[in-house]
Amino acid sequence: MKGDECVNAVKSAIKAGYRMIDTALLYNNHKEVGDGIRQALKDNGLTRDDIFLTSKVAFFPPDASNNSWMFNANNVKGNEEASIDTSLEELGFTYTDMFLVHNPTTTQHEYNFASVPHFFELFALKGNEGAVAPAVLPNGHLVRPLVIGGAHQEHALVTEPTTSLNVRVATWKAMEKAKRNGKCRYIGVSNYTKELLVEMKEYAEIMPAVNQLEYHPRFASPELVKAAKELGVVLIGYGTGLSIQIEKSPVLQALASKNGRSPHQVLLRWMKQLGIVSIPRSSSLEHQKENISIFDFELSDDDMMTLSRMNQRHPYYWDPVVSNQTYRNQVVKFALNSAVKVKSGLSSLQEGVMDRFNQMQIPDAINRIRGSFSSSPAEDVSKEEKSEPGNAGEPTVEIDLDDK
Ligand SMILES: NC(=O)c1ccc[n+]([C@@H]2O[C@H](COP(=O)([O-])OP(=O)(O)OC[C@H]3O[C@@H](n4cnc5c(N)ncnc54)[C@H](OP(=O)(O)O)[C@@H]3O)[C@@H](O)[C@H]2O)c1
Repeated sequence: MKGDECVNAVKSAIKAGYRMIDTALLYNNHKEVGDGIRQALKDNGLTRDDIFLTSKVAFFPPDASNNSWMFNANNVKGNEEASIDTSLEELGFTYTDMFLVHNPTTTQHEYNFASVPHFFELFALKGNEGAVAPAVLPNGHLVRPLVIGGAHQEHALVTEPTTSLNVRVATWKAMEKAKRNGKCRYIGVSNYTKELLVEMKEYAEIMPAVNQLEYHPRFASPELVKAAKELGVVLIGYGTGLSIQIEKSPVLQALASKNGRSPHQVLLRWMKQLGIVSIPRSSSLEHQKENISIFDFELSDDDMMTLSRMNQRHPYYWDPVVSNQTYRNQVVKFALNSAVKVKSGLSSLQEGVMDRFNQMQIPDAINRIRGSFSSSPAEDVSKEEKSEPGNAGEPTVEIDLDDK
């Protein structure tokens, strides 16, 4: 949302009772958001303290190429301090309530593969010419699983684990510095998987206040909800409204009729009962009012289950499998290091991976992760090898790279 549409949406939302406004350096609308807030504060007798303003930085990886229309050299991991200063200048405030790390990708390669889901339903819905078409091949096969499956194979083991971890750590250190310097009240992350969130215990001096991620019935993550709760991290879900438009689900329609509410209200209520904060986007006053009117009804346990059973781990935005491949490469490194002691006959590709891994320095944080193995990797490897006699020449540890 940009221009007057954005200013007016912010003003009407605050007038309708919204107090949390979410934007990002990427959206290129900081000025409008700041203007809308200032005008709304004046019109409604509110003060800056009444509003919770969130923005996001560090969208692009450090080796980002600038061939994307939305590339902004300040919005790159490694430039967090500059991007936070730019954001505050554009917004016209001396602080935000919260800055988030926009996504966890740490190399152009990882970014390219993690963003693949965008090119299917989401781009098609928005009429974006980058949408993959056709979505179905003449033989009836869906294109999406073929492309995403290929992306997983292509990405596996390529992103260097040490580099990736170092980027995540450096970005977070910059966020912590911004908080300490009073540039925001809270810091958080966005699009982090459960594994990446738990990993932060290894390097964060200040744990993230929130993790903002795509959340709707078809892309839900009960184990992330559980882990976030244990870590004291609040989850914020986006993409709820667009999921309704993409799916046109008869199940949701039936629940909406049964409860006498709109599909948006039912999903926003589902999120609330799951303990997830929602941030519906709307430029329409009517929709804004509808979306905030979810506090006077309750979904039954059966209705909650019906929606939760729709989960297919089907993202429209970021692919968590790719993020976890990057993360798990760290673990694979130990596994391969151990495997070489018990196994011979690696293919030349595997040897290449081993060589590259072996040349890297293992930072302390990885050593600590290594310490979290229940038994030593070498023991695990030899056990697994015994149980799978037919796989000579293959990597000796199976790590489930598919997040299902
Ligand atoms: N962290 C990230 O990577 C990330 C990614 C995407 C989005 N976000 C954040 O999440 C927020 C949510 O945005 P989103 O892009 O995910 O969109 P969304 O909220 O899922 O859906 C927005 C769409 O839903 C429609 N809509 C909203 N309420 C409606 C209602 N009651 N009835 C019918 N249609 C309704 C809107 O149309 P109208 O305008 O006509 O109402 C708009 O087309 C964004 O503002 C952004 O700040 C974050």
